[in-house]
Amino acid sequence: MSTENNLQAIIAHAKEYGFVFQSSEIYDGLSAVYDYGPYGSELKKNIKDYWWKSMTQMHENIVGIDAAIFMHPTTWKASGHVDNFSDPMIDNKDSKKRYRVDHLVEGFADQLKEKGEHDKANGLVASMEKMLAEDAFADLKKMIEEHKISCAVSGTCNWTDIRQFNLMFDTKLGSVTDDADTIYLRPETAQGIFVNFLNVQKSARMKVPFGIAQIGKAFRNEIVARQFIFRMREFEQMEMQFFVRPGTEGEWYKYWKDERMKWHLSLGLPQEKYRYHDHVKLAHYAKEACDIEFEFSFGFKEVEGIHSRSDFDLKQHQEYSKKKQQYFDAEINQNYIPYVIETSIGLDRMFLLVLSHAYQEETIHKEDGTTDSRTVLKIPAKLAPNKLAILPLTKKDGLPEIAKEIMNDCKQDFKCYYEEKDSIGKRYRRQDAIGTPFCVTIDHQTKEDNTVTIRHRDSMVQERIAIADLKNLVINSINQ
Ligand code: GAP
Repeated sequence: MSTENNLQAIIAHAKEYGFVFQSSEIYDGLSAVYDYGPYGSELKKNIKDYWWKSMTQMHENIVGIDAAIFMHPTTWKASGHVDNFSDPMIDNKDSKKRYRVDHLVEGFADQLKEKGEHDKANGLVASMEKMLAEDAFADLKKMIEEHKISCAVSGTCNWTDIRQFNLMFDTKLGSVTDDADTIYLRPETAQGIFVNFLNVQKSARMKVPFGIAQIGKAFRNEIVARQFIFRMREFEQMEMQFFVRPGTEGEWYKYWKDERMKWHLSLGLPQEKYRYHDHVKLAHYAKEACDIEFEFSFGFKEVEGIHSRSDFDLKQHQEYSKKKQQYFDAEINQNYIPYVIETSIGLDRMFLLVLSHAYQEETIHKEDGTTDSRTVLKIPAKLAPNKLAILPLTKKDGLPEIAKEIMNDCKQDFKCYYEEKDSIGKRYRRQDAIGTPFCVTIDHQTKEDNTVTIRHRDSMVQERIAIADLKNLVINSINQ
């Protein structure tokens, strides 16, 4: 299946089975804004819970917060976002279409690669990264023109100069529409952590090194919104700021780079689909930074960023608020502003990663020589929306009653789904399509010996087990 078809098939599947809907669809949608449906919201919550547990439960020195989306406007002046949070853009004068310059050049490089011109494509991207790092916009425009990189709509190379475009959304606080009341929708959750650094440190009696974790919405007025939920205007981040003694940031940066990759692999996702990408052009706050990239059907793309942010943010907040942001380190008898290592993963991007890796269209070769097909989501059991589907073979003979008993016994421990309509085959297919790792069928033999047939989603293997063993089998697989 082609890249484009693969993504289209996933988008269609996500809609049909209640994972992701276009926002305000009945009004023709809102570009780059999405809603999560019944199974999508479960999957999203399971990803959140897995991250939250790995941070705040598995690390004794990390605590969580839940800060407001609206923050005092000076926050964004101090953080540098008002002046620096922008992307270089270029407009085509004929079509009036605006492009992020890096996307325009990368798109052209992808076309070169399709023609087998890999060296040329890589050279072009490397030159672009260098020019962006040096803000050499005039040279970059010249390069775009020399390579005749054209607009997909007009087909022309009639470009404006490259300009910076700020990505923050603004709105007004209260009823007065005065500039002084302009506030921003946060473009990252991190600043809610920085401004609460001392509140958290003192109230939770934390000692450096320690971390603060948060999950929450962020907003960016992305100009080029594409690839479904990969790049959205309203999205969620899972961020953790780790405060360390100055001079130790290098070793903590390595630690978190490694630790975060382990988290991804702990979900059973294949190592060969992952790679690190070290930043050439560093964000305004960063000292050292890399991305964890995953190979989507549309290429290797960033899922998570690990950033060594020095003491930039706390220092800036100290300067703008005139409130000391220092920590007293009793071990060395010194006051200092801690350095920060940040791990920042997009929840929606992680959702897309899990969904697209799980999505498979399979041909089944049956024993009688015929073939069948199924669409299955091989979602890791611990993230699957439903863990167990409970299916009585018929609606009579006391089978639903036994099924309901199993349901009542299991639903305290994990999410179950009960269904008695349609043939067992059809019910299996529906559960495959939403990624339920186990189905259990209650039949007439169950009444005689208290056993049920459990069917494993990925292998489709069926086995007979005692009802008494069922709950533990599912729990063990979720906890693996
Ligand atoms: N606090 C640091 C920070 O925000 P970032 O690299 O700009 O760093 C971190 O963003 C992560 O947030 C990205 O790796 C990505 O997963 C996610 N993200 C960023 N912009 C996004 C967007 N427009 N839509 C969906 N996810 C996005």
